[in-house]
Amino acid sequence: MAKYSMPRIGDQAPDFTAQTTQGNLTFADYNKGKWVVMFSHPADFTPVCTTEMSGFALEKNWFESMDAKLLGLSIDSIHSHLAWIDNVRKNLGVTMDFPIIADLDMKVAKLYGMLHPGESNTAAVRAVFFIDPAGKIRLIMYYPLNVGRNMDEIKRALLALQTADTFKCAMPLNWEKGDKVIIPPPKTFQEMEDRLTEPDIELIDFYLAKKDLPVHQMN
Ligand code: BEZ
Repeated sequence: MAKYSMPRIGDQAPDFTAQTTQGNLTFADYNKGKWVVMFSHPADFTPVCTTEMSGFALEKNWFESMDAKLLGLSIDSIHSHLAWIDNVRKNLGVTMDFPIIADLDMKVAKLYGMLHPGESNTAAVRAVFFIDPAGKIRLIMYYPLNVGRNMDEIKRALLALQTADTFKCAMPLNWEKGDKVIIPPPKTFQEMEDRLTEPDIELIDFYLAKKDLPVHQMN
């Protein structure tokens, strides 16, 4: 079985230069000061991929409003990508106008662990990498060829990461915008004591406490 690198959460996103539908792109430049949501799809002109990639195009403005850029990838040629973009625009009225990498030599797919040989040796699985403005990989999703991703979850994950950073908190199961967040557990005896009398928190136990975020500061 072929072994490819698998970047992990917390790693610096590997840099690369690639041909895309929006011209040549160097990842580090594209990433500079912005979040990047980078996703692979198995193949152009396939049904599940068409629903997913047109779905990303429909949400492009939302991602931009979150300071996030989209970056697609598949192991297809630039000509195939352009023909598919044209086809989807005609059939669905949706323009996939974010860069899509033409990764014919599989260079980027291998660098990012998007090839899972047990699933396919020639097509990337459905991966999503959330990369922060400092170039650090913060969250990774992998889906197989036959199950499409969930756009609500992708958006929720990005909002959760950004909210956790802004408010130095963590997100509980099924967290959604407007829900209480987890206050990091105390690290000293004194912090544990202080926690017991902290105002305006939902204290279940010293290690499990939640609070509302200030409404006016939420995304
Ligand atoms: C699809 O997008 O429909 C698809 C792509 C590759 C394998 C199976 C399904």
